[in-house]
Amino acid sequence: MKHFLRVVTQFFVFLYCKCLWRGLKFVIRKVTGRCELQRICHNNKPGARRTLKIESSLRYSKNELCQSALSAHPDRVEKTIDDIMTLKKVNPDTNPQLGISLQASLFQIVGYRSLVSEVEKLRREPYDCENPDHEEMLMKLWKTLRPDSPLTGRISKQWCEIGFQGNDPKTDFRGMGLLGLHNLLKMSKAEWEQKNFDKAIGYSFAIVGINITDLAYSLLVSGALKTHLYNVAPEMPSLSHFQQTFCYLMQEFHRFWIEEDPCDIMEFNRVRSKFHRRVLRQLKNPDMALCPHFAASDLHLVNL
Ligand SMILES: *[C@@H]1O[C@H](CO)[C@@H](O)[C@H](O)[C@H]1NC(C)=O
Repeated sequence: MKHFLRVVTQFFVFLYCKCLWRGLKFVIRKVTGRCELQRICHNNKPGARRTLKIESSLRYSKNELCQSALSAHPDRVEKTIDDIMTLKKVNPDTNPQLGISLQASLFQIVGYRSLVSEVEKLRREPYDCENPDHEEMLMKLWKTLRPDSPLTGRISKQWCEIGFQGNDPKTDFRGMGLLGLHNLLKMSKAEWEQKNFDKAIGYSFAIVGINITDLAYSLLVSGALKTHLYNVAPEMPSLSHFQQTFCYLMQEFHRFWIEEDPCDIMEFNRVRSKFHRRVLRQLKNPDMALCPHFAASDLHLVNL
């Protein structure tokens, strides 16, 4: 009985707080003449700070239209914004800024969602040696990394030189599928790679690249990369943003590895988790862009 009463009391306290909160929002709206979305757009510069707040405001909105905006198809973003403006009784002629700002944020939100599914699709596609496109990418990877030494055969011990585990790379892509290959290829074209990765470092380029792909993937899927991507992609985060992020993580991991100065590859686990924690900490800051040179402030972003 006592327990029952406690539950009932808690329930009413909860209802009371909820009403109070709604009431407070109502009063603020009356006093300032703005709804929550307007206040967010007004008080926050474009980028993660604003988009994350808009995302959570829409998610916890009691209105279905607002909630479903989060999963709108990119083609329907404009229409959705019009509907929200009508719902919130904001006149687009007297207040054009709100629609523009909301639209930019909603594009980022739905863009992130579709990036997650695009990346997931690549990850689920296994490397297939019967597929000429896959084989061609693999050959390109070799040629980019070892332009002066031709491969003696498709199955060859030479693959170990660039950090695969055996004489056929196909087995090493397990888990990350084509996503790993795409990332390695992107990375192999980054200028700094060739001089940085060599056997002396104590770990192998390909295997570590596939593993850091895993790290980037889990940051993306968990939503941790939102701060970064909302700050660097003013329109829609795309696969190339994800790959830039991967290249950055590879560089940083490399630097971190040298700083940590591990005895050998047996310490990979430890160094990797420490690195992972560090990146997560950095991403907690809503002003964070992992690669500062891609930061939103550097792009020609007008203050929407
Ligand atoms: C990467 O390394 C971590 C730690 O060693 C491991 O748990 C994870 O499964 C690896 N991922 C891939 C794709 O190899």
